[in-house]
Amino acid sequence: MPSSRYLARDAVKMVVENLRIPGRDPVSVLELGPGTGTFTEHILPHLKKEDSFDAVELNDYFFKILRRKFRVNSRVSLHHKDFLKFTTDNRYDFVVSSLPYERIPKRITRDLWEHKLELCKPDSYIIYYKYVNFNHFRNRFEKQLVKNYTYDEKIVFLNMPPARLITLKIDDPGNGIELMNNSIKGRKKRKRSRPSGSIVNGTGPSK
Ligand SMILES: C[S@@+](CC[C@H](N)C(=O)[O-])C[C@H]1O[C@@H](n2cnc3c(N)ncnc32)[C@H](O)[C@@H]1O
Repeated sequence: MPSSRYLARDAVKMVVENLRIPGRDPVSVLELGPGTGTFTEHILPHLKKEDSFDAVELNDYFFKILRRKFRVNSRVSLHHKDFLKFTTDNRYDFVVSSLPYERIPKRITRDLWEHKLELCKPDSYIIYYKYVNFNHFRNRFEKQLVKNYTYDEKIVFLNMPPARLITLKIDDPGNGIELMNNSIKGRKKRKRSRPSGSIVNGTGPSK
């Protein structure tokens, strides 16, 4: 089901509030998983002729709709592919993501996050949402990213289901990538250092 116009409006507000700061002109926006373009059509009216807008959509059917809707807009570049296979020399001021992390395996979610950060400029923004009935931050690295970067959140009740809209200010993208790598290494290390056989069928040493 597409996002409601309320969620789209609030997400776009996050972009617009930070759009025209000195030194950030022209602006580059990347949208991930635009679907039928609910967010896209709210963002585009705020962009100037010299700004750029890239959207990456995997689904064939949605991509056809996007092409039909936005083909006359010269600022828009539509990419029909998996975001993990999207390569570009561009770096972005805003990454607006609708990727359905709840339904994606954790390892792939991690790769998607890493790729998002790789494409961010310093002092950029990542804007994304999660449905409120799902585990808030189910990935350890996401908890760390949220702690590391300036974080803002808003619950949008007028969406089906209600959504938690999150904005991260990415001052240094490399910092986040490093954090993610350390969080994975830390987890591996702890797994290895667990004393083997200490709790086997409840017969481990009593403390
Ligand atoms: C929850 S829908 C959101 C659609 C729209 N942005 C909205 O909010 O109404 C998620 C979208 O992400 C797309 N998607 C999922 N995985 C993707 C990937 N790896 N690369 C690009 N798009 C992807 C899906 O095809 C779908 O259009």
